[in-house]
Amino acid sequence: MSVPIKSGTGAAYARILGFGGYRPARVVTNEEIIQNIDSSDEWIQARSGIVTRRWANAEETVQAMSVAAAGKALANAGIQADQVGAVIVSTVSHLYQTPAIATVIADELGAKGAAAFDISAACAGFCYGVGLADGMVRTGSAEHVVVIGVERLSDLTDHHDRSTAFIFADGAGAAVVGPSDTPGIGPVVWGSDGSQARLITQQESWHQAFHTEGGAQWPHLRMEGNPVFRWAVWEMARVAQQALDAAGVSTDDLDAFIPHQANMRITDAMVKALKLPAHVRVARDIAQQGNTSAASIPLAIERMQESGELKSGETALIIGFGAGLAYAAQVIKLP
Ligand SMILES: CC(C)(COP(=O)(O)OP(=O)(O)OC[C@H]1O[C@@H](n2cnc3c(N)ncnc32)[C@H](O)[C@@H]1OP(=O)(O)O)[C@@H](O)C(=O)NCCC(=O)NCCS
Repeated sequence: MSVPIKSGTGAAYARILGFGGYRPARVVTNEEIIQNIDSSDEWIQARSGIVTRRWANAEETVQAMSVAAAGKALANAGIQADQVGAVIVSTVSHLYQTPAIATVIADELGAKGAAAFDISAACAGFCYGVGLADGMVRTGSAEHVVVIGVERLSDLTDHHDRSTAFIFADGAGAAVVGPSDTPGIGPVVWGSDGSQARLITQQESWHQAFHTEGGAQWPHLRMEGNPVFRWAVWEMARVAQQALDAAGVSTDDLDAFIPHQANMRITDAMVKALKLPAHVRVARDIAQQGNTSAASIPLAIERMQESGELKSGETALIIGFGAGLAYAAQVIKLP
């Protein structure tokens, strides 16, 4: 039949209406980390900027941390759970293959019947989620979307591996995306380079891990820090600039730069490569929080909002990058 079909129509524009975060209670110092690896507090601080990080306890599950962060984001947005049409959870450390943890989180939040799914885009996951939510609100497939970035990377870290033991951490961050009369989320610039997938990867499949000679072995994350560092600094500064250009925003117009909190030296190098003016406030949550992958950007924004460093209506550039290698960046208006 040649009958025409209707396409979805939603809001003219979308924006982020509120952020929320959850930081596990237990603070882990570099002194504790170096009980397992040949390193020092000085080396870790100088090479990564990390002073402390937080690790979740048994009760601070992916679900519990997500519900806490999303509940805070909904309250900050002034949106009720029954107004939520979709829940997107970005995580690589929910240790069940199925079902998606998003369905259970939506139910616990009270977003009954909401579309709910997980995405696996590692440290780019929050920006991937915001990109998806922006499109969903504008095409009308959901009026309000909760985007959650959540990790319990301490479960996947080899605490005796000196190249990763000090980096990865746990936490959850969330945002509520909804309709807007004016543009609040710029075009997403995103992509991937699977030819470099080996640079950050779970070392073996679950199947291989269970069938290891001599007994099951936990499949930890492995990372080649040096090439990841170079890729992040050079390629990601270019992607960040593309996101600014796509939004029609110059570095002079920018109020804040919130990159994925991978490593303080990566952040410093990106600030330099982008020639950001001194007035641009830069997220440095990694010092207290470590690298929480998909959670790092909303957690960093929440800290800056709570300390009064960010104000409503200001313009921020966010960029996530990591395993995949996957990346995504966009300019946003702060709620
Ligand atoms: C991990 C990282 C901090 C390591 O820093 P680096 O300067 O690249 O370190 P290198 O691997 O080149 O090692 C430099 C030296 O420190 C030593 N070293 C490595 N790990 C160490 C540790 N934990 N403690 C002390 N010394 C260490 C190395 O043996 C090497 O010694 P050498 O010069 O005598 O050979 C850095 O590569 C990085 O941040 N990479 C990106 C990480 C990241 O963002 N990952 C997530 C992406 S989302």
